Amino acid sequence: MQKAVVARLGDYEIRRCDREDIPSVIEVNMKTLPEHYSDYFYYEILSEFPETFLIAELHGDLVGYIMCRVEYGFSHVKRLALARKGHVVSVAVIDEHRRKGVGTSLLLASQSEMTKRSATECYLEVRVSNAEAIALYERVGYKVTGRLENYYRDGEAALVMATQLAK
Ligand code: ACO
Ligand code: ZN
Repeated sequence: MQKAVVARLGDYEIRRCDREDIPSVIEVNMKTLPEHYSDYFYYEILSEFPETFLIAELHGDLVGYIMCRVEYGFSHVKRLALARKGHVVSVAVIDEHRRKGVGTSLLLASQSEMTKRSATECYLEVRVSNAEAIALYERVGYKVTGRLENYYRDGEAALVMATQLAK
């Protein structure tokens, strides 16, 4: 069955993740990031937040993914306000397909889905040493709003970055 495409970038297609895509998502995560999750975690996020769990494919091969939550809590952009916030849990693109805009497309497509779910901002945590990812986030308008010491298992700190979402 043809799956609904939410965005296109040259020959790359961005579409919603399905349960049967999860093994490939896990494979991409294993190859690209030191943060791994239980299989259950992926299926759980997919069932709770299917609109913002997107994959990038090239000729039917999965080359990247983004998974997010939508939460309610203290704003990262407006002091002492409460907000509905998108939270990018994990985004990755496999090495051979980087610097072609795939990561940006995944992020922008999921942000637009968050907006439909009434989120007014989006935030994420990123390793302080992850210059590529930080550059991407800054380029699409994210600002550093905090720093979490010892956030990762190996002791590295995280930057919290956030952006307002378009109405
Ligand atoms: N060096 C400098 N700037 C970079 C780099 C790099 N290696 N990679 C991306 N950027 C910046 C550039 O400004 C780039 O635009 P340009 O190519 O026109 O200069 C911009 O980001 C957009 O890049 P994209 O092509 O859209 O990003 P890409 O598809 O390469 O994916 C990603 C970026 C997801 C960070 C990729 O490098 C990756 O998978 N890294 C490993 C996994 C990872 O670190 N994920 C993020 C963890 S944090 C989190 O998940 C919340
Ligand atoms: Zn997080």
